[in-house]
Amino acid sequence: MSLPADYWTRVDPAAIPHLVTDTVPGPLSEQYNARGMKYMIGYSGQVTLCPVVFDSGHGCTLKDVDGNEYLDFSSGIYVTTLGHCHPKVSEAVAHWAQRLMNCHDFNTPVKVALLEKMAEIQPWDLTGMQLYDSGTTAVEAGLRVCRVATGKSEFLSCYMDFHGKTGHAVSLAKMNPASGAGRSQGFYMVPRPYPYRPMFKQSDGTIDTDAYLRFFDEFITQATTGNIAAFVLEPVQGWAGSVFPPEDFFPKLRKFCDDRGILLFADEVLTSMGRTGKFFAMEHWDTRPDVVTVGKGFGNGFPVTAMMVSERYKEAINKISASTSYGGNPMACAAALASIEVMQEEGLLEHALELGAYFDRRMEQMQAAHPIIGDVRGKGCLLGVELVKDRETKEPFTEAGKAVYQRAFQKGLAWVPAGHILRMSPPIVMTEELAAKGMDIIEESIAEVEKEEGY
Ligand SMILES: Cc1ncc(COP(=O)(O)O)c(C=O)c1O
Repeated sequence: MSLPADYWTRVDPAAIPHLVTDTVPGPLSEQYNARGMKYMIGYSGQVTLCPVVFDSGHGCTLKDVDGNEYLDFSSGIYVTTLGHCHPKVSEAVAHWAQRLMNCHDFNTPVKVALLEKMAEIQPWDLTGMQLYDSGTTAVEAGLRVCRVATGKSEFLSCYMDFHGKTGHAVSLAKMNPASGAGRSQGFYMVPRPYPYRPMFKQSDGTIDTDAYLRFFDEFITQATTGNIAAFVLEPVQGWAGSVFPPEDFFPKLRKFCDDRGILLFADEVLTSMGRTGKFFAMEHWDTRPDVVTVGKGFGNGFPVTAMMVSERYKEAINKISASTSYGGNPMACAAALASIEVMQEEGLLEHALELGAYFDRRMEQMQAAHPIIGDVRGKGCLLGVELVKDRETKEPFTEAGKAVYQRAFQKGLAWVPAGHILRMSPPIVMTEELAAKGMDIIEESIAEVEKEEGY
């Protein structure tokens, strides 16, 4: 594989994970949790299912307060794509932390360099940009641009997509009535093609992409006022369990949108900046979006996000002010610029694709060996394994998903739960040996759970 032998993240696969306490979480983690959880309420399932307290991270490894070392298959939550504390990114942030932390939305040399770099790496005409500090605020800005650019007000989004936790971003996704959210007017959801669980099928049982498009058309007529500004969707559904669309979906959706004067808004907060082996996941389907949002791996851990709009809508972007307290601050720009440069200089997109090919092979082998694995999928380092009780009925095996997550974590693998779908987002700087180590832990955990469940 393409990583140089002296690569900074290299660790001996035999030395990781390294657990020094009898139980995970260990006693010191328990103590910190007792203090922290007294005040902070509402942790994610990732934490509550295995509440260790992390103290440091280096490359593909994490260390907790008890001294246990973990192999990282989560990148935080799809964030530290280059591993923890990449020296070039850390140095870039430290430099600006000592020189200039904030100057509102004035230009700075590092901001200009970042904007030029983003214009260089995007393969389309998305050269209208604004910088933000969270994915959800970038999504909000994207929605407003779509309204201003089209003069229309409604949006279509997809079942099981996730776009953030602020007002309109929440309105793009499934509502949790207990969470206090409410859908804003003019926000509509439609099913999207899920190849493993197709809602619309051809006579041979395979997914029928055209039937989805026919449904969208009918839905617009029946359920909306026909005033659709944009179709908003994740290129690959992250939170839903790394769900990839059929190959023909995005090219066909592009034409569908063009024919109806609807903008195509790709929310790439999770999928962009190397996660799938490309800077933008939409490149896999050779489909040009009109609006894109990027985040997570963009600053490799430093909060920085962006909204990018087609050249054609530059007037519209000017109308929605770009000014925020933190968006585009020098530390943020430095983190994002350094992250992109590292990916380019070290050939990491190619490496992510090579790793992805390894993961694909390995997941397919696992699927062949384990009856509870219904589906496996991935591109680059965005991966999913779907657990089912029965391959015929495809009934989700949620209890197994939870048990495998906890078991693998207790063996020293930090990763991401998602009900019956095992989600993996390892840093793209991982060696194949380390990737194999992580997959060994997952397979061992699946085998143990399978045996306990009587398979
Ligand atoms: C596709 C997508 N959009 C938006 C968001 C929101 O990003 P943030 O948590 O930075 O607000 C997320 C977060 O998981 C996401 O996956």
